[in-house]
Amino acid sequence: MDKSIQEELKRASELVLSARYVVAVVGAGMSAESGIPTFRGPGGLWNKYGEPDMRGFERFLADPKTWWRNMLKGGRPGSELQAAVEKAQPNPGHHALAELERLGVLRYIITQNVDGLHHVAGSTRVAEIHGNTRKLRCLRCTARFDRRAFEIDVEHLPPRCPECGGVVKGDGVMFGEPIPEDVLAICQEQTAASDCMLLLGTSGVVYPAAGFPQQVKWAGGRLIEINPLETDLSHLCDVVVRAPTGEALPELTKLIGELKTS
Ligand code: OAD
Repeated sequence: MDKSIQEELKRASELVLSARYVVAVVGAGMSAESGIPTFRGPGGLWNKYGEPDMRGFERFLADPKTWWRNMLKGGRPGSELQAAVEKAQPNPGHHALAELERLGVLRYIITQNVDGLHHVAGSTRVAEIHGNTRKLRCLRCTARFDRRAFEIDVEHLPPRCPECGGVVKGDGVMFGEPIPEDVLAICQEQTAASDCMLLLGTSGVVYPAAGFPQQVKWAGGRLIEINPLETDLSHLCDVVVRAPTGEALPELTKLIGELKTS
C-alpha cells in the first residue's frame, strides 16, 4: 500500500481511538468489491440505465398489482442489481467493520446499501436506510419479511401483510418514497450521538444520508472518508483515504487493534 495512504490510515486510526462514539455511513462503493455495481461513476447503474423514474413510489401506490406482476416476471432495470446481490458475499471491508464492532470501536453502521452484506459479515448494529432487497415490508405497519420465505399468491396481488392486512412491497426504498420512520429515527439518534463518522464508499449526494456527516461536522465532530475518488463531502473531512474500502478497512482495523493493545 502507498506510503501516503498508510500515513492517512494511521491518522484515521488515531482519530477513531480518540473518539467517544464512532458511526459509519456506507454507500455502494463498499460492496463494489463484492461484485455489486455502484449507481454513479464508472460502471454505475444510473449511468447505464439512466436514473429511475422519480415517481416510482407514486406509480407503485397507484397500481401495486402491475408493479408486482412486473417484479415477478423480472427484467426491470433493478434486476441487474438484484442478480448481483443474490450472488454476492461480504468482502474484507465488510468483515473489517464487523471486527470493529466486536472490538467495541464502531457503534453503528448506517448503510445505504440494500444487499444485507453487513449482517452476513457479522455486524449486528446496522440501519438499512434504503431497505434490503432480501426483504419485503408492509407499508402500513412496517413489519419486514424474508422475501424467500414469504408466500405470494400470484392470483391475489399485491400481497397483504399477515399481521395487519396492509399492502406489502419490496423493502428497498423507491424514488419518491419516504424513508421508513423506524429506520430514520435510528439514523437520527446515531448521528446525534456520533462525534466521529466514517464515510465509506458513498458519493454523498443522496439525502438524508448525505446530511448525517454534515450534522456531525457542525456539532464539532470528525469525519474520515475512505473512497478512491473525491466526493461532495471530501472537503469537510479531517482525514481522506484515497483507497478502496476492501483494502483500507482491514488495514485500519489492524492499526486500531495494535494501538488498543499497545
Ligand atoms: P454511488 O454510486 O453514488 O457512489 C459510489 C461511491 O463509491 C463513489 O463515490 C465511488 O467513488 C465509490 N467507490 C467505488 N468503488 C469503491 C471501492 N472499492 N471502495 C470505496 N469506494 C468506492 O453510491 P451511493 O453513495 O451509495 O439509492 O448512492 C446513494 C444512493 O443513490 C443509493 O443508495 C441509491 C442511489 O440512488 C436508492 O436506490 C434509494
